[in-house]
Amino acid sequence: MATQTATPTITLNNGVPIPQLGLGTWQMDDNEEAEQAVAGALEAGYRLIDTATLYRNEQYIGDALTGSGLARDEYFVTTKLWKDSHAYGDALQAFDDSRDRLGLDYLDLYLIHWPNGTSYREAWRALERLYDEKCVRAIGVSNFSPDQLKDLLARANVPPAVNQIELHPLKPQRDTRNFCQQHDIRIQSYSPLQRASGGVLDQPELQELADRYNKTPAQIILRWHIQHDFVVIPKSSNPGRQRQNIDIFDFHLTDTDMATIDNLA
Ligand code: A2P
Repeated sequence: MATQTATPTITLNNGVPIPQLGLGTWQMDDNEEAEQAVAGALEAGYRLIDTATLYRNEQYIGDALTGSGLARDEYFVTTKLWKDSHAYGDALQAFDDSRDRLGLDYLDLYLIHWPNGTSYREAWRALERLYDEKCVRAIGVSNFSPDQLKDLLARANVPPAVNQIELHPLKPQRDTRNFCQQHDIRIQSYSPLQRASGGVLDQPELQELADRYNKTPAQIILRWHIQHDFVVIPKSSNPGRQRQNIDIFDFHLTDTDMATIDNLA
């Protein structure tokens, strides 16, 4: 099968490049599903795999990475610290456990999964140590509001490279986006298709755009994320939909069409 146009990379605030589109693996909790989905995605050209301790699939993702035959520097792996491990020593241990399950020497990106009160302050010190010791190439957060980011930035020696948030045209998160843009924190969009709660794929405006660009509504939405300079991680276990979701680098939405999607919410 012809390979898709290569996924572009985007540079994080510490100079590390990250592929702009990757595979989300939330709800791939059937072990075989996770391994097969990741193996298929790597074959289809995905080079960013996003997981978390919470997803309980790191080991199977590790198997798929090892089985892919790709060199370590050809793919980018993100995982996340769960909120029961925010104490300094617990966070260091949780990182080691994730890295072992993934079978990797280092991680590319490690995120605090949820702020959990103010316990993220202590967890961040552990992530800074892991970063300083080069166990991980970039560190960041997930599900942080502007106020929580402000608090973290005031205390941090290493600013977060990423804030991964639920973001799609019906949940545009404008305040968080503005804050992150001002502070050079890259937005990663999870649930970019809002499939779980339904709705966005069925908007008539998206179908009209899909018809005009000869793409699917999902491809139009993913392209909207790309043109906003977000890193986007759609989840799919289906080989056809995986290929569809990465086949978005051969067209460009006009400013008017971007505005149409911006105005859905
Ligand atoms: P499946 O794994 O069967 O493909 P999100 O990442 O926004 O949360 O969306 C994930 C959900 O959307 C999954 O249920 C996934 O199902 C489905 N999905 C992924 N890609 C597409 C697509 N291109 N068109 C329709 N549904 C999709």
